[in-house]
Parts: sequence; structure tokens; C-alpha cells
Amino acid sequence: MADAKPTFYITTPIYYVNDRPHIGHAYTTTLCDIAARFQRFAGREVHFLTGTDEHGHKVEKSARDRGVSPQSLADANSAEFRKVLGLLNLTNDDFIRTTEKRHTTQVQAFVKRLIDSGDVYVGEYEGWYDEGQEEYVTDTKAAEQEYKSAISGKPLIKARERNYFFRLSKYQQSLEALFEAQQGFVRPEARRNEVLGRLREGLQDIPISRTNFTWGIPVPGDEQHVIYVWVDALFNYVTALGGAGQPDRARFWPADFHVVGKEILFFHAVIWPALLMALGMPTPKCVYAHSFWIAEGRKMSKSLGNFIDLEAVQGYTATFSLDAFRWFLVTQGPLGATDADFSRAKFIEVYNTDLANTLGNSANRVANMISRYFDGAIPDPGAQTPRGAQVCASIPGADAFNWPKLCAEGACAAAGQYNRFELADALATGLDIVRKVDLYIETTKPFSLAKDTARRADLALVLYQCAEALRIASLILWPALPAKIETLWKTYGLTIDPARGEFASLSAWGGTQPGTPIAKADPLFPRFIEPAPPASTPAKA
Ligand code: MSP
Repeated sequence: MADAKPTFYITTPIYYVNDRPHIGHAYTTTLCDIAARFQRFAGREVHFLTGTDEHGHKVEKSARDRGVSPQSLADANSAEFRKVLGLLNLTNDDFIRTTEKRHTTQVQAFVKRLIDSGDVYVGEYEGWYDEGQEEYVTDTKAAEQEYKSAISGKPLIKARERNYFFRLSKYQQSLEALFEAQQGFVRPEARRNEVLGRLREGLQDIPISRTNFTWGIPVPGDEQHVIYVWVDALFNYVTALGGAGQPDRARFWPADFHVVGKEILFFHAVIWPALLMALGMPTPKCVYAHSFWIAEGRKMSKSLGNFIDLEAVQGYTATFSLDAFRWFLVTQGPLGATDADFSRAKFIEVYNTDLANTLGNSANRVANMISRYFDGAIPDPGAQTPRGAQVCASIPGADAFNWPKLCAEGACAAAGQYNRFELADALATGLDIVRKVDLYIETTKPFSLAKDTARRADLALVLYQCAEALRIASLILWPALPAKIETLWKTYGLTIDPARGEFASLSAWGGTQPGTPIAKADPLFPRFIEPAPPASTPAKA
């Protein structure tokens, strides 16, 4: 039997169906898409999961307000989220819905196991409840928030329930040990410290069932109760991997990355691993919590008119291309511990600097010079092994560019960055090679070499090196810019199929074949100039 490929499992949060898709959802899913694409390219067997979270009071209420059944509301809005995946060229391997049978039956089985083991028990609970968030707030927090929801500002209500409780407190020490043994369990570091701080304050058991509505998965053996939507939702990460009568994807567990927004980190970094421990299952390798997009300098809001909904997203992709939008999200987004601002002016600046003036310009310039000086085919750089590895000794300054070394270091650094989910850094590494190609052109001046027939060999070497360095940069950039890079590959006569998983061998220096025809091409990223606003009519004196 052939060796099994190493696996890679990455997940987005499953999105609530009472909201409509917007830039926040697009962002998290795009990040996961870029990581998944790289890992497939690097030869791993990838499972990339996203989906929708469809139960709970909020969905039941929204459906009632609209006079439809919760299931039909969920069907319609889940379809909206699914549509976005196609629009944004996202390559998820599965889409899970929490109303699917494959999910509900397994959730019930898990909860039954927890009841049987005593980790879930029946108790009485009284506390401050945030209806919008469907969560209890601790007494201290409730007082701090002046008994209002931190999210909606609506008053908290004093609720009392007979509930099923999860013995979270029992896992306090095991969780602390997990955080200690696996330093990268929660990233980035600042978020890890926050969770650890909260963890050290002490954990209380949490109610995991509800009786005040019915739109949920019944507690096994007690139909009066539905399972708390968060417990239901968290289980999606394992229910999607199998169960009776389904494809068995158990080999993907534990997940490599659960990528989430910072607001839902506690559920993923504390409650989720505790539930898994209670079930005797391995815990995930990393919960990566990014920060938030704000827009035009302020929190996004429909009333401020700065809300980036799907229509606004489509406006950007239509004007600048989908790949440009992906580039902006991943390179400028809130991957670290601080929020990031989505502004149109910044978008245009980044588009022009990185994509039009750097990547696009370089790709075009090199292709044009090869077309002009070598009759449209990649020149032969001479007999050196690997091909084109020699330094062009007769050109002052060229010895600063040891291309095979520069590219090998770049590809290796980028692979490490992708593996650590440092996506913006990986792309900066790729773009840096392109910048070096520009610098090399400024240094070696191929347009001057071309005027002297005695320097044909130097010219051939320089342009071969430029094309080859661009090829290696393109491999690093492909996960973020798949369509544009595939166009670049066509121009350069390259047949590359990332699905074959050959990133490492393809990124070795010397892969470009002399004689390969270069195609005529339109600019990859035309420079963008914002049209001037229509002149206002001068006011009459
Ligand atoms: N259903 C829960 C998650 C359950 S996971 C087991 C939920 N859903 S949600 O629809 O509210 O989606 C929240 C996620 O959307 C965030 O965690 C984040 O991934 C993304 N974003 C929503 N708004 C965002 C921003 N303004 N900025 C960046 N991402 C944000 O919570």
C-alpha cells in the first residue's frame, strides 16, 4: 500500500443562519481557504470544513417574526452562505448543517455518553441571561455591564432553570495542563494569555440544555430539554468526520486549526477541549482567534452605512478582481491581536502597490523583454547545473543575487509560515522575491544589455533568472491569488497542477525549460485610478 499522505484538517466557525453573509464570514473562510490550498499544494490530504449553525432561540424567533418555520428559514439562509463559497472561489471539502441527521444523531449520542459518565448531570441554575447571545453572564460581569448585554445593550434577564449541566469545573486542571504542554494551543499569544487569565479565575459548571424554546436537538431521554446551541454547534467539528453510514474521516481528527473570531474564543479554547476530554477524545492542535474588521475607521454598522455586506464585497471583486479582494483580506486583515480597518482608500493603495506595480508589472515586464529579445521563448542560460544558477560576473552588483539560494530560502520560509498559519507573512515572503526581481532588473539593466550583441549570453542568463524567480514566487503566491497566478502560468507556458501536491519539488531552482514559448498577455492587475467624483455645480453668488 502506498504511504498515506499526512492529513490537515482546518475549520471555520459554522455561521448562524439568522444573519446574512458579510465580510467577517468571508474573511475567516478565505483565510482557511488559503491555508487549505497551500497544504494541498504541499502534498497533504486536506479536509476543509465550513457550514451553518441552525438551532437556537434566535433562529426560532426570527422565523416566527417572518411567519415561516425555523427549518425553512435555515434552508434559505444556509443556501446564502453556501452561495458565497462559490462566489469567492472557496474550496471547502464539506459543508455541515446542524439540522442534518448526520449531525443531530451523533450529538445526541455524545450527550448520552456524557450523561452516562456523570459529566452531565441535572441541576438548578439561576443567573443573568443574555437573550440575544443565548448565554448566561457571570454575576461579576453582569454588574460590570450594568445588567445589559455587552453586544446588544438590551437588559439582561434573571433566569432560573432546571438544566442539564456539564461538569466544566472538573476539567480546570487538565485544561491548564493542556495550555502548558501545548504552548500554541491558542494563538496568537495575546489571546492565549487572555484565556489563560480567565481560566485561572476558576471555572463553573455550565448549563447545557434549555427549556424555553424547542428549536434544537432534544436531550436524549428527556424531550422537554433541547441541547444548548453552543454545545450542539461545537460538535460539528467531529460529527462532520463520520458516524454510522457516512464516509469515515476519523483520520483527520484532531483538527490542525479551528479558525475563529476572538468573540467566540472561550467556547473553542475552554468548553470545547473540556467536552472532548470528557469523551476521552484528543483535543485540537490549535485554536486560532483572529480579531475583527472595522470599516472606514468605525465599527461596522448598517445604520452608519459602513457595513460591508455581500453586495459591497461583490462591488470590490467586480472592480478589482476576486483575487485582489482575497489579497487585501489576508495581507491587511486582523490576523493578529488588533482589529483592522477596511477602507476603500487603503484597498486602492494596496492594490496598486502590491499587485499592479509589483507583481503585475514585474510579470509583464519580464514576459515582454523575453518576447522582444528572444523571439517569445525562454532563453537558454547556459550549461550550468542547476540551470541558470551562476552569478553574472560581468555585471556590477549582480553578485548580490544568489538566485538559487534566495529562492530556496524563500520557499522554505514561506512553507514554514503557511504551516504556522502566518499567512500574511508567507505572502510577504513571496512578494519579496518579486521585489528582488525588480531590483535585479534595475541592477542588471537587460534593456541596455540588449543593445550589445556581444552580451547575448548575459542577457539570456538575466532574463532566465527573472522568469525562474517569478515562477518560484508564483508558487508561494498561488494560494491567495489562484486565478491570477494560473493566468501568469499560462503566459509563461507553465503547466502546474497544485492538486498534485508538488510544492517542494516545483520550488527547486531550475524548473523553467529554455525554449518554452511566452504568450502575449494583458496586464494581470491594471493600475487603478479612482474616477474623480462628478464636479458639483458651483453655487450661485
Ligand atoms: N454560530 C457561531 C459559531 C459556532 S462555531 C462552533 C457564530 N456564528 S456567527 O455567524 O456569528 O459567526 C461568527 C464568526 O464570523 C466570527 O467568529 C468570525 O469568524 C466571523 N466574523 C463576524 N464578524 C466579523 C468581523 N467584523 N471581522 C472578522 N470576522 C468576524 O458565532
